[in-house]
Amino acid sequence: MTALESILKESLAGGATMPFSSFMAAALYHPRHGYYAAGAQRTGRRGDFYTSVSVGPVFARILAGEFCAAWERLGKPDDFCVIEAGANDGQFAHDVMTWARDRRPDFFACLTYQIDEPLPANVIKQRGKLAEFTGKITHDAVGPATAGCYFANELLDAVPCRRVCFTGGQWMEIHIGLDAEGTFVEILKEPEDGALVRRLAWLGMDFSEGYRTEMAPAVASQIRLAAQRLARGYLFFADYGYAARDDYAPHRTTGTLRCYRNHRAHEDPLVEVGETDITAHVDFSLAAQAAVGAGCGVLGFLDQSRFLTGASAGVLAEMEQGNGEAGGAWRRQFQTLTHPAHLGQKFHFLVLGKEVAGLGLPAGLTFARPSAVAELLDAKFGEEEDPGGDD
Ligand SMILES: C[S@@+](CC[C@H](N)C(=O)[O-])C[C@H]1O[C@@H](n2cnc3c(N)ncnc32)[C@H](O)[C@@H]1O
Repeated sequence: MTALESILKESLAGGATMPFSSFMAAALYHPRHGYYAAGAQRTGRRGDFYTSVSVGPVFARILAGEFCAAWERLGKPDDFCVIEAGANDGQFAHDVMTWARDRRPDFFACLTYQIDEPLPANVIKQRGKLAEFTGKITHDAVGPATAGCYFANELLDAVPCRRVCFTGGQWMEIHIGLDAEGTFVEILKEPEDGALVRRLAWLGMDFSEGYRTEMAPAVASQIRLAAQRLARGYLFFADYGYAARDDYAPHRTTGTLRCYRNHRAHEDPLVEVGETDITAHVDFSLAAQAAVGAGCGVLGFLDQSRFLTGASAGVLAEMEQGNGEAGGAWRRQFQTLTHPAHLGQKFHFLVLGKEVAGLGLPAGLTFARPSAVAELLDAKFGEEEDPGGDD
């Protein structure tokens, strides 16, 4: 039994229960024993799963170009901030800062990199990784940045979600409790949380018996927080997920919750608690609608393959020349990031703008279809109920 399982079982003794979202929050973020809080390496070859960041520096190199172009479109302000949430060990920040320093010193001179990081273990790692950029990196947010970009890779899929099950003609929320042997079990209860109840009303009742899914109203809160961090600029969220119409499609009868350990995926979040990643696909309609409510424009929604291809003119030119670091290794990274069978189609970019009307679009949106944004904001999922709400 893991240390966290003992703690959770103690708190559930005597018949207590907790919503799955609270269980997931503890599993990932318990201050000492949470999967992300404990300080162990979680991404990359020696971790449990790969992310676009752990593939290598090409991902950050391409995004750095987007941040620099945003700085130019905004009129090259003296004070420009890149804000990252979910920065893990600081690798992405390091790759962005290295590119800016080496390739665009004019941009670098105006750039501050802000990391929004709630976990002390990560702050320590980030300070170490970014030591050469001390003075340009900050962990202290003082009001919204006047101009900048907000970036998050795989942040939203790590937001604790609620789980629901359609049974007996109604939606029930999944809670976690203990059985007579002291084993974690699921317990169905009528939904009470206001945001969840509103969201379920909006989802409707046309589902098969036993249909399970997840809802993460806290994603909307996370988007609103992000929108508040910038007075003007662009926000980039990269993650796996769907428009709501796909997320809650009839054939997705067991939802999208997945657990990862040692590069193996399974669907049981009640085992190896605190040592296993728990994640759910992002409902990008919820995210987009929250963004609109927070005063942002939804500029584009497209798969990672098309986003990176549109944004990568500079990187592709360097790869063409094929010298040094920009040779074979970069090409392999680019293929992993964009190939449909690897990360290219599974991951999507949601791009938002705040006070940027008339300034032009990020190059990553070159191959975006306007209808994809319309689908996110689709009337069926947008007008009947307030899609926001807090967890
Ligand atoms: C799947 S990992 C992705 C890490 C990194 N972005 C990458 O792509 O390799 C999710 C990260 O989001 C962080 N996270 C979750 N909620 C957060 C929040 N509210 N603010 C900042 N970071 C958060 C977790 O601690 C974890 O490091």
